[in-house]
Amino acid sequence: MPKSIAFIDDLLSRMTLAEKIGQLNLVTPGGETLTGTVVNTDVADKIKTGRIGAIFGVKSAEAVRVFQDLAAQSRLKIPLMFAEDVIHGQKTIFPLPLALAASWDMKLVEETARIAAVEASSIGIDQVYAPMVDVCREPRWGRIAESPGEDPVLASRYAEAMVRGFQGSDLSAPTSVMACLKHYVGYGGAVGGRDYDAVDMSPATLHDIYLPPFAAGVKAGAGSVMAAFNTLNGTPMHANATLIQRVLRQGLGFRGLVVADYTGVQELIAHAVAGDKAEAARLALKAGVDCDMVAEAYLDTLGASVAAGLIDEAEIDAACRRVLEAKADLGLFDDPYHRITWGRATQSVLTEANRAVARQAVAAASVLLKNEHDLLPLGKKGRIALIGALADDRVNMNGTWAVSGSPSTVVPILEGLREAAAGAAEILHAKGANIVDDRVLAARLNVHDWKDLSVVIDDRTAEEMLAEAVDLAGQSDVVVAVVGEAREYSGESSSRIDLLIPEPQKKLIRALKAVGKPLVVVVMTGRPLALTEEAELADALLVAWFGGTEIGHGLADVLFGAQSPTGRLPATFPYAVGQVPVTYAHLPTGRPFPGRFQKFTSGYVDMPDEVPHNDGLFPFGFGLTYAPVAYGPPRVDKVALAGDDDRLTVSVSVTNMGKRPTAEVVQLYVHDLKASVSRPVKQLKGFSKVALEPGESAEVSFTLLAGDLAFSVATSVDDLTRIREAGDYDIHVGRSSRDTQHVRISWN
Ligand code: BGC
Repeated sequence: MPKSIAFIDDLLSRMTLAEKIGQLNLVTPGGETLTGTVVNTDVADKIKTGRIGAIFGVKSAEAVRVFQDLAAQSRLKIPLMFAEDVIHGQKTIFPLPLALAASWDMKLVEETARIAAVEASSIGIDQVYAPMVDVCREPRWGRIAESPGEDPVLASRYAEAMVRGFQGSDLSAPTSVMACLKHYVGYGGAVGGRDYDAVDMSPATLHDIYLPPFAAGVKAGAGSVMAAFNTLNGTPMHANATLIQRVLRQGLGFRGLVVADYTGVQELIAHAVAGDKAEAARLALKAGVDCDMVAEAYLDTLGASVAAGLIDEAEIDAACRRVLEAKADLGLFDDPYHRITWGRATQSVLTEANRAVARQAVAAASVLLKNEHDLLPLGKKGRIALIGALADDRVNMNGTWAVSGSPSTVVPILEGLREAAAGAAEILHAKGANIVDDRVLAARLNVHDWKDLSVVIDDRTAEEMLAEAVDLAGQSDVVVAVVGEAREYSGESSSRIDLLIPEPQKKLIRALKAVGKPLVVVVMTGRPLALTEEAELADALLVAWFGGTEIGHGLADVLFGAQSPTGRLPATFPYAVGQVPVTYAHLPTGRPFPGRFQKFTSGYVDMPDEVPHNDGLFPFGFGLTYAPVAYGPPRVDKVALAGDDDRLTVSVSVTNMGKRPTAEVVQLYVHDLKASVSRPVKQLKGFSKVALEPGESAEVSFTLLAGDLAFSVATSVDDLTRIREAGDYDIHVGRSSRDTQHVRISWN
């Protein structure tokens, strides 16, 4: 049973000021602890003297035990809380968060978080720094890989599913971990897509686009929130009392723990809002940041600030209480070892069952962008040339932020395909090109690789590699090129100035095309790319993101048709980098793009007419499958509604007209025809992924509430007012944000 308020009151009353400040100190021992059990002496001493409250980045149950034993030697024996970046799996690595969002399958998303919770808790992790719920419409920003994409409704459902999966029904259970919604808030809007850069947005945009997933995650019960590195309209989030205290706590009703991001408190000095560490600590504490990650600015300075009367001890009490409450909720006061005790008794990590979910997630997340003459799925016959550096690779497959995942457990694509085709088709392989040729860039991309390099520059010349690949392609019946980014080409501090597949691999695709065999291009990426040339050259184009541990099996399932790819884009794939930021949910302009370039309308002189200039090459929600799905007309139960309590039922029937099972993502969008302020041309309001056997029909229904039509009219960031205006709305139903049918209703 989690400990009571009285227990925490009593404990708090017995703590010295230094011990309370100690609870706010969140550190990573780094270095040696990666190997298991060695404790950095400084950390050990601080734990024993009550100067550390929580630790992150510990990689084994043995190390957790060692640290927890040290805490048991402290005066009050307050247990430590262990955290880790469990972003898309712990040991069993699932597709990237952006890819999981592309599945539009929230049961699957929840299941991946549940498995991650079980695996992480088995080594003693109590809290995970996930889910990242930063809406992002800026694919130059590398952290879009960790995000659920561009849409607030998709991101909100994702946030809820993740929180449910991590926390389970009882946070004190040994298999539950505390979720941490991050990064609060606006981080996905970094100017120029440069990581950590400033964010400037209207209060209404903040409330309508960037805040909803946090609100949804809070409502789902998330126990913690992490502050973001960015400034928002000039105020760094680590010093943003308005957004943390007034909006998050008072407005959204969040009662949990707010942690800083890595050195985020200290960075207030670099942001030039604090003169020194002490001032930075005061600003952050007053803003509502309870724990100071890594910087130790709280530990070093808060005591003196209290003594000098610059902060009130009550403010430290409030933060400390939240740390103690989190520990109580996690069951740590009852038994600090209960997660590792449970973990030791079980073989819960990287099980067949966990791998099966990871395998299934690959097909669910993969997005088929083009499939001329039904080239995919491939028959298991003849010779298949599998070309590309990423085709026989373990190191890149987990993608970014798989800190506990290991390349050694990954099934490479070549292995998966050979296994699936055994005895039926021959799979030939050539590298064809380096991921990148530029050695400076390669060194940057290899930044995290101590043993295994993710970018290996071949000893052969580019021409030699290309010739080998072309030769193999010539001997084959079909060519599958696996191309794209290296794992650290997206992720933290991996912003890009272009969104192209790296040039050596582009050359490879051109050369393979020239061979004249049917060409499948599989793209590994952590962000939306501008696939304009590849969409021309390839006969079939599949976005496989970074698929994780089971990529080889999962991709073989897709390529040979054991599974249909059923992902849909969670973010627009632009025509070119110059188009970003870009979203389907843009506002109308006074001079709308008329469908082809026309002077004095909103578009680009150097973009062809075929692509809408105000939307991407491949729009949000788009994705093909192996079976055509027919839509009936959308139906509504009434066309005239009135009042805030009314509700609309929207239905559509969908039928699998093909010969293969598939799943359709039915999407519901709304367009407010006239309002007091311009409203987006379309906004997602609901979605449902339905499995369909060949010939099967399903009736899909959505309920639209009056609140779904409301929008923010905030003039300041702490104004949570939303209004709904009477008027006419088009209710769109369809297979993507671009391909919908609609009915008009009025709602007064
Ligand atoms: C990231 C966070 C992460 C933290 C701890 C930071 O650099 O922004 O998302 O949780 O490091 O690893």
